[in-house]
Amino acid sequence: MHILVTGGAGFIGGHLAERFARDGHSVVVLDNFDPFYDLDLKEHNVEVGREAAREGDGSYELVDGDVRDAELVTDLVGDADYVYHQAAQAGVRPSVENPRKYDAVNVDGTLNILDACRDTGIERFVMASSSSVYGKPRYLPYDEQHPTTPVSPYGASKLAAERYACSYGEVYDFPVVALRYFTVYGPRMRPNMAISNFVSRCVNDEPPVIYGDGTQTRDFTYIDDVVEANVALLESDAADGQAVNIGSTDNIDIKTLATEIRDQLAPELDLVYEERHDADSEHTHADTARAGELLGYEASHTIREGVAAFIEWYEANREWYEPLVMES
Ligand SMILES: NC(=O)c1ccc[n+]([C@@H]2O[C@H](COP(=O)([O-])OP(=O)(O)OC[C@H]3O[C@@H](n4cnc5c(N)ncnc54)[C@H](O)[C@@H]3O)[C@@H](O)[C@H]2O)c1
Repeated sequence: MHILVTGGAGFIGGHLAERFARDGHSVVVLDNFDPFYDLDLKEHNVEVGREAAREGDGSYELVDGDVRDAELVTDLVGDADYVYHQAAQAGVRPSVENPRKYDAVNVDGTLNILDACRDTGIERFVMASSSSVYGKPRYLPYDEQHPTTPVSPYGASKLAAERYACSYGEVYDFPVVALRYFTVYGPRMRPNMAISNFVSRCVNDEPPVIYGDGTQTRDFTYIDDVVEANVALLESDAADGQAVNIGSTDNIDIKTLATEIRDQLAPELDLVYEERHDADSEHTHADTARAGELLGYEASHTIREGVAAFIEWYEANREWYEPLVMES
């Protein structure tokens, strides 16, 4: 299969490109190397993808370009059977400072790809959506029928992109699936996230920083589970036209998470508290029944198992990964 992975130099896209290349597919990555965090981490993701292609008999091509470039996007989508759209301006808090960039990349960029899918034809368009589309919880866990009232410009941009995708799929009759990821973590994860932050600070004898009082809860999803859900969509049409939650169904409050990581890595450190941002979700918790029913999805890691696996990976990869996460 010819698979276009937008944002394929990033954390999640990097894992998808690696898996597809290892499975023998012909992978094209489109990424503009946005300097949201250390670019050496993205270069590393590209190297991992190239290596997987060599080992797995697939192919890997990197296109350094922007989803806002409609002409380029049209060319690339024209050669693809499947599009896995992971490119986005991520980050909830910075979206409050600069909402227009989120709109340009996450909404207009997605529309460029959808226009190309409409014009050239495609087997399936799969996009990374987010639990941020739900906003304030009316009930938990969130199922896909939960009202969508995002509280951040980031969440609003992901919801707009997802709704455009589903409406294009409906009107122009091509298969679309939006996977709503609940905070994803694991090897090569983004530096500016709670788990990478807590671990890197603790191993460097710096106190973990909690925003707010730490009572906010999160459903953290291990990267392998996200990859499996995406891989299932190469074969399955069961979720076409739908938004589907991808989470762990487990959840933990941030203070407990920080305490457990601290206790394991640096028990002498105190926890440090800083002000919570209004755009941060108070609680996230996924109901993944739809993913289970349609895609056979089942989370493989509880949060404690996944964090233990991440710490083990961190320690084995500390030499190259740590400077990149500490500097970002
Ligand atoms: N990581 C999470 O917890 C999480 C949770 C929910 C949803 N998501 C979504 O999953 C996707 C991947 O997230 P991630 O954590 O891997 O983030 P990431 O920042 O590591 O990856 C995104 C990639 O997109 C690229 N990109 C940004 N703007 C671009 C543009 N204009 N043109 C081309 N490429 C561009 C970046 O350079 C980056 O490599 C995003 O769509 C994000 O909204 C992530």
